[in-house]
Amino acid sequence: MNINDLPEMTQLKELKEKGQVKSKQRVADHGEVFTNQREVDAMLDLVKQETERIDSRFLEPACGDGNFLAEVLKRKLTVVENRYGKSQLEFERYLVVAVSSIYGVDILEDNAIECRARLFKLMDEKYTSLFKDKCKDECRRSINFLLKRNILWGDALYFTNPVTREPIVFSEWSAVNGTMLKRRDYVFRFLVEKTHQFSLFNDEGQAAAIDEPVRDFPLIHFLKLGEDDAN
Ligand SMILES: C[S@@+](CC[C@H](N)C(=O)[O-])C[C@H]1O[C@@H](n2cnc3c(N)ncnc32)[C@H](O)[C@@H]1O
Repeated sequence: MNINDLPEMTQLKELKEKGQVKSKQRVADHGEVFTNQREVDAMLDLVKQETERIDSRFLEPACGDGNFLAEVLKRKLTVVENRYGKSQLEFERYLVVAVSSIYGVDILEDNAIECRARLFKLMDEKYTSLFKDKCKDECRRSINFLLKRNILWGDALYFTNPVTREPIVFSEWSAVNGTMLKRRDYVFRFLVEKTHQFSLFNDEGQAAAIDEPVRDFPLIHFLKLGEDDAN
């Protein structure tokens, strides 16, 4: 029997045609089969209220190119547009909140890159359609920075980058006083395992409380993210 006659091969071909599979090797190595839109919708509808809350946090630990995260962002963007579409600054503020609460990890670097690009395009299409030439590059830069910090290339089983073995560190973003953002970084492993987190900046070198961040940043205006490397 020819290998191409096996039922799995027919199934693989169908998935490739639907864009759910990139290559046989990737399916074998990483189980990379993307979820189709109907299933994504049905699963997200189980937590519909959360998908429509602008600041609800979502983490996809094997996000692929972002099928779930893109749908979450779409739903949040609809809410941001309906509530704040008439005021550009308010819209931008909540756009940043919506993106800052979406997180993803994938073991394949190209997936993480594609996921970021896809989320950026979604938000930019909405932003541009509403505010056209009044859109601000600084807003786009802030969003780009958030996506770079939130959608990471990493191995979610080992909580590290698959090549460098550096620990995965996520940033928590909290809105303060309307226009400011507070960033705190946490080691992914400790968030999941709920074991002790050691602060890299603890002068005494002692174990810190479970929730203590590894790094704490000064407040920053939401349109100034990525302005320099320090934030
Ligand atoms: C079944 S696909 C699902 C992708 C996406 N969540 C979706 O539903 O369309 C599994 C994804 O997990 C990624 N993956 C496999 N092992 C992983 C690991 N240890 N850590 C992070 N991602 C992993 C693969 O690269 C692939 O993109």
